[in-house]
Amino acid sequence: MVFKIVVLVHILSSLAIAASQDLNFIYSGFRSTNLSLDGLAQLTSNGLLRLTNETRQQTGHAFYPNPVTFKNSIDGSAFTFSSTFVFAIRPGYATLGGHGMAFVIAPTRGLPGSLPSQHLGLFNGSNNGNQTNHVVAVELDTIRSVDFNDLDDNHVGIDINGIESVRDASAGYYSQLNGKLTNLTLISGQRMQVWIEYDGMEKQLNVTIAPIDVDKPSRPLLSLPRDLSPYLNSNMYIGFSSSTGSAFSSHYVLGWSFKMNGQAEALDISRLPKLPRLGPKKTSKFLTIGLPVLCLSLFFVAVSSVSYGIRRRRKFAEVLEDWELDFGPQRFKYKDLYIATKGFGDKELLGSGGFGRVYKDPQTTHVVGTLGYLAPEHARTGKATTSTDVFAFGAFLLEVASGRRPIQPAEDVILVDWVFARWLGGEILEARDPNLGTEYVAEEMELVLQLGLMCSQSEPAGRPSMRQVVQFLEGDIPLPDISLLRLPKSDLPFSRFDDFAMSYPSSMGKSFSHTSVSESLLSGGR
Ligand SMILES: *[C@@H]1O[C@H](CO)[C@@H](O)[C@H](O)[C@H]1NC(C)=O
Ligand SMILES: *[C@@H]1O[C@H](CO)[C@@H](O)[C@H](O)[C@H]1NC(C)=O
Ligand SMILES: *[C@@H]1O[C@H](CO)[C@@H](O)[C@H](O)[C@H]1NC(C)=O
Ligand SMILES: *[C@@H]1O[C@H](CO)[C@@H](O)[C@H](O)[C@H]1NC(C)=O
Ligand SMILES: *[C@@H]1O[C@H](CO)[C@@H](O)[C@H](O)[C@H]1NC(C)=O
Ligand SMILES: *[C@@H]1O[C@H](CO)[C@@H](O)[C@H](O)[C@H]1NC(C)=O
Repeated sequence: MVFKIVVLVHILSSLAIAASQDLNFIYSGFRSTNLSLDGLAQLTSNGLLRLTNETRQQTGHAFYPNPVTFKNSIDGSAFTFSSTFVFAIRPGYATLGGHGMAFVIAPTRGLPGSLPSQHLGLFNGSNNGNQTNHVVAVELDTIRSVDFNDLDDNHVGIDINGIESVRDASAGYYSQLNGKLTNLTLISGQRMQVWIEYDGMEKQLNVTIAPIDVDKPSRPLLSLPRDLSPYLNSNMYIGFSSSTGSAFSSHYVLGWSFKMNGQAEALDISRLPKLPRLGPKKTSKFLTIGLPVLCLSLFFVAVSSVSYGIRRRRKFAEVLEDWELDFGPQRFKYKDLYIATKGFGDKELLGSGGFGRVYKDPQTTHVVGTLGYLAPEHARTGKATTSTDVFAFGAFLLEVASGRRPIQPAEDVILVDWVFARWLGGEILEARDPNLGTEYVAEEMELVLQLGLMCSQSEPAGRPSMRQVVQFLEGDIPLPDISLLRLPKSDLPFSRFDDFAMSYPSSMGKSFSHTSVSESLLSGGR
């Protein structure tokens, strides 16, 4: 008899699961989706969900419009569920944003009566902490609220019925390569991905966050062993909440997927809508993007010749002389380039690819030049030197080795910073071109990437000479201990390309004053 009842309950609960028709959706952008929005939340014309804009002291909510069945109607246990989303937070000021955003499971669409600022649009002064709220949220909090015992101004937290997190940690992720915790800056403006996973059997809620270009780390940042059944109603709404205070950020969601009783579908990053361009347009598009890309293209051709020479195992001295002879003195003026390319018309376009566009000179059919334009001191002094060439060579190495453009205009990623961040995290090999697969020699890749970083320092004195570069590459002399470059995040030794590209300060590094390290780096050998 007892056995029969158990079987019956089992069958019924399976039926209940089936009857709930497990919700499963994936939004790669929100262009034609039916979300329930309130407050500052809006969908942009290209399909971004913008939860807040630059209006102070306001909230913004975006909810999936229909209620979602979260509990087994027979035994009242909470189902397994999983969700992932990609977000970006663009702060109002470079180093100050506010207040944060949250993924939320709530009994109502839109959380009426909730407050902005430190309440994140989730709670208010009278209901905060009340068990009757039935609110479970994962917050990305960018302001430290001492009243609520916030850890810092850059943390991830699990909130149950109140804004005081039951679990929290500074934003970061555990690297797959070495298991080390790598910090993330929520207000960096960069795209990041969050995974929220609840196992109804294990009764455990995991939260993981990672930069957009890093696969989901296997170790979650937060793991809360807790049965969610008492906190959730049978029918709940899911969505996002965000708020601004005296400080404000634009909180964007680029894509979102959710699955009840299973694993949320992976988001295809390439299909997500683009974030808006950053920063004021100081100069024309040609000067900000066109010229550096063009110069890079030209330099590519020049350097190809050099590496061809190296491959033919000529003596180093000859190579360097050839290189200097052939390419060193040939520096194009903007005017000459303009004429050579007939105003950069498409007719003279030889090709476009990883380096942007390559033009030919109609008079000589030669395409040569240097990339020294990109070096920061070139921006100041307007002078190309052998040192700016080394800089350019460094940028070139990172290009080639990482399979990325030096500036990714759509994503505001500065390659040098990006590689340096990988290196700081002790995983410089993660910066390699993903297309290489396993077909590379780790030592060589590491050498090329580290050398690229050394050459791309903003301080000319820190860069090796071209002669040394070739010696490093040939393995004639060992690379100096690059760990001398290990600096606090706020003092990156690398160029920003700022005068040419986006003038937006990323989370990392605001200034580049640091001569001591650079000087000690290469004190000998010159
Ligand atoms: C912010 O968003 C709200 C709602 O979409 C809109 O009414 C308001 O004009 C926006 N403000 C700014 C400064 O963009
Ligand atoms: C959006 O969803 C709501 C709630 O389910 C529904 O009432 C409304 O008709 C839907 N709108 C569109 C355009 O599908
Ligand atoms: C606080 O929020 C609750 C639930 O959303 C709402 O019913 C209540 O009116 C709010 N209280 C105040 C003082 O706004
Ligand atoms: C929690 O909220 C309920 C319903 O809004 C209210 O009756 C109760 O007094 C609140 N409890 C506390 C401790 O504020
Ligand atoms: C990471 O962030 C934590 C908390 O803000 C800080 O204590 C730690 O020093 C940071 N680590 C690095 C490597 O920056
Ligand atoms: C949560 O993380 C723990 C520790 O990594 C893991 O054992 C568990 O399977 C994870 N659970 C879910 C639901 O992802």
